[in-house]
Amino acid sequence: MTTNSLHAVPLLVVGAGVMGVGIAQIAAQAGHAVMLYDAREGAAAEAKARLAKSLEALVTKGKFTVQDMAQTLSRIETITSLEAAATARLVVEAIVEKLDVKHGLFKQLESIVAVDCVLASNTSSISVTAIANGLRHPGRLVGMHFFNPVPLMKLVEVVSGLQTDPAVAAAIFELSRAWGKVPVHARSTPGFIVNRIARPYYAETLALLQEQAATPEVLDACLRGAGFRMGACELMDLIGHDTNFSVTSAVYEANFYDKRFTPSLVQRELVDGGFLGRKSGRGFYDYAEGSLKTVSTAGATFVPGPLPAAQVVCVHGVGLVAERLGRTLAQAGRAFARDERSDWIGLEVDGAQLRLTDGRCASQIGFDVAVFDWPLSDSVGSALAWAASSRASEDWHAAAASWLQALGFSPQRVLDAPGLVVARTLAMLINEAADAVLQGVCTTEGADAAMKLGVNYPAGPFEWLAQCKSSTVVGWLDALDVHYRGERYRVSPWLRQRDWQEAA
Ligand code: NAI
Repeated sequence: MTTNSLHAVPLLVVGAGVMGVGIAQIAAQAGHAVMLYDAREGAAAEAKARLAKSLEALVTKGKFTVQDMAQTLSRIETITSLEAAATARLVVEAIVEKLDVKHGLFKQLESIVAVDCVLASNTSSISVTAIANGLRHPGRLVGMHFFNPVPLMKLVEVVSGLQTDPAVAAAIFELSRAWGKVPVHARSTPGFIVNRIARPYYAETLALLQEQAATPEVLDACLRGAGFRMGACELMDLIGHDTNFSVTSAVYEANFYDKRFTPSLVQRELVDGGFLGRKSGRGFYDYAEGSLKTVSTAGATFVPGPLPAAQVVCVHGVGLVAERLGRTLAQAGRAFARDERSDWIGLEVDGAQLRLTDGRCASQIGFDVAVFDWPLSDSVGSALAWAASSRASEDWHAAAASWLQALGFSPQRVLDAPGLVVARTLAMLINEAADAVLQGVCTTEGADAAMKLGVNYPAGPFEWLAQCKSSTVVGWLDALDVHYRGERYRVSPWLRQRDWQEAA
């Protein structure tokens, strides 16, 4: 099979739901003759009629021409029996997410389509290896995992199972490109790339909520302050807690109950209570008619303050954060000392310390100590978590927040939890991505592209790693591991090796 052999071939889309109709649309736009089939009588025709309406709306908005609309629709033929699709050279399946049903469909298709017809499944969570097992030609089955909404989301995970022919995966990769997508190769393992690496984004926020370290508003503000489009709480509310919980549970189960993926009691309680998020009117936030719909205003009212009075100020450590602190002090005309050989980064103010988190709690470090989160974003006024040692004086509590505010952050006080909010979340996202690379699920570039395009992260995990350095991330994880004891925060061997290489 040549890599461009699927261009413009006759295509069968099975399943005319949300995903199937989106796939039919982009394939038709790319010039394929598309046959659309659904097991429920009338469903394919209804889906085509809905598509026509949504394309009409795009024409009205000037985003689509009448000619393009007519051509796209004329290329989609709804069929009422699979036997009518014998000419298909490619099948994309987007039916119910059940292994036995998908497997049964592909078995049936093998007796209808030609032997060189490629079979692709849009499964979001089922093993491609398992779907292919028992087929007469399992090498031609591949995962083609689109994201919702299909016409807008650029990412396609091209998922290879144990028996997938590399030439088939390569052909689907090229075809996805031709459809204007950004394909990424993935090995069929639980959650593939995006649904696996994204787990800690939710899990760390849920863990902090369970410890009552901060409110959903503060946690969301801190994550948005780091450049994420939505905080984890508002995002889980949008996805739906039932869906999010079931994906986490499936990944946990599929990994033989690895503690790293343990679902959260906080989320299970929301599901049990029917607090499913936006769709049920209430999740972490209340979306009922008349209630506040936009949430997480923390950080929105930033007013930079003057630098607090102090006798002796010293900037400790080197790197971007130390430079930023020094620059701000210099711009304000404040005299300060530098200790570039210090083993910590931050400000020393009349003997008290305001330190960039190294993963440890402030109380573990000393008396007049406050720790602040990893400032991922440069923008002035971005929300930043901080915590004070339980042994810090009241004066230092107040002063630490004033210093952070004067340094251009919107300080968000949280309880003294290790790794605060952003550092522990980044550490776990990077760690999960490192393990995925270690296990051959994807490349570092693939993971970065997948997370930016599949879930709109502001950067990829390996881009963050380059910014923070392996030793920093390993330090955060080790501190979390020491604090919590257990499997959850164990360092990926890939990351540990990388740290050793960088230190050498
Ligand atoms: P959906 O429920 O909107 O549509 C599924 C369609 O398949 C229905 O119209 C149903 O009548 C039809 N169907 C069920 N069994 C069938 C069979 N044996 N033969 C033919 N048609 C059959 O589901 P949706 O959301 O479009 O999902 C479809 C697939 O795409 C699932 O595997 C899902 O995991 C995956 N997916 C879904 C995403 C999403 O955000 N909804 C994102 C990425 C993948």
